[in-house]
Amino acid sequence: MFAGRIALVTGGGGGIGRAVCRILARDGARVVATDINSKSVEETVSMLVNPGEHVALSMNVTDKASVESVVKATIDKLQAPPSLVANIAGITQDNFLLKMEERSFMDVLDVNVKGTFLVTQVVTSALVEHGITSGSIVNLSSIMGKTGNIGQCNYGASKAAVQGLTKSSALELARVGVRVNCVLPGFTQTPMVETVPEKVQKKVLKLTPLNRFAQPEEIAEVVAFLLSDKSSFMTGSCVEVTGGLGM
Ligand SMILES: NC(=O)c1ccc[n+]([C@@H]2O[C@H](COP(=O)([O-])OP(=O)(O)OC[C@H]3O[C@@H](n4cnc5c(N)ncnc54)[C@H](O)[C@@H]3O)[C@@H](O)[C@H]2O)c1
Repeated sequence: MFAGRIALVTGGGGGIGRAVCRILARDGARVVATDINSKSVEETVSMLVNPGEHVALSMNVTDKASVESVVKATIDKLQAPPSLVANIAGITQDNFLLKMEERSFMDVLDVNVKGTFLVTQVVTSALVEHGITSGSIVNLSSIMGKTGNIGQCNYGASKAAVQGLTKSSALELARVGVRVNCVLPGFTQTPMVETVPEKVQKKVLKLTPLNRFAQPEEIAEVVAFLLSDKSSFMTGSCVEVTGGLGM
């Protein structure tokens, strides 16, 4: 499905990012797996089909120079910029609104929103420079960006912003052949959810008609579909993958 394509994945050392890397490699892409945690992303690449074909690189999505150096390294190593991008890196720093530090509010926006913007901008510029006229970008929002969530005013705001960013990017980048879509997962069994208090997890489970959390692969398969030509007429879409939570 992805033979001959280069795919950049951010947050590739985390739960969903690792699953995305595995599915893209399984389906023939050369994966540039990136994460701020270089050890985790090296581990990801060691798990992929034909690990020698893929690259693990450390990248901080909030730092434009870091993003630019990863795109440059990709061009040096694989002879082209990535035409597929999965913007998966994201963080939470939960607290009640009345107790939320300004720093926590801004840090979450920085990674989840500015990071997604920077990667989109740097990669698309490289595609245009190289005369590549087809690309697909998938951003990770969250169902909490639609419904809001207690204790997550920063995260909810950031994930709503990712939807707005996706739609504006889709409008602007269609003329250079780049589609941009986003996925809104519900609760997914990854290290991120392990920080959520058990009481809250139980409450969310009750509100989820399928009565379980997603496995990371169930989110990653939808990301792969949106990256692939199977979704060739989709751009600016925000796809809910939630087991029915928040529909
Ligand atoms: N797990 C869920 O229930 C859930 C639900 C909805 C949306 N999401 C979203 O899915 C995405 C992946 O989440 P996950 O559950 O796999 O979490 P995770 O914590 O397992 O993975 C996130 C990864 O992002 C990396 N990262 C953090 N800051 C970074 C930075 N500045 N630069 C580069 N990488 C950075 C982390 O090192 C980590 O490997 C996130 O955007 C998250 O908001 C997750």
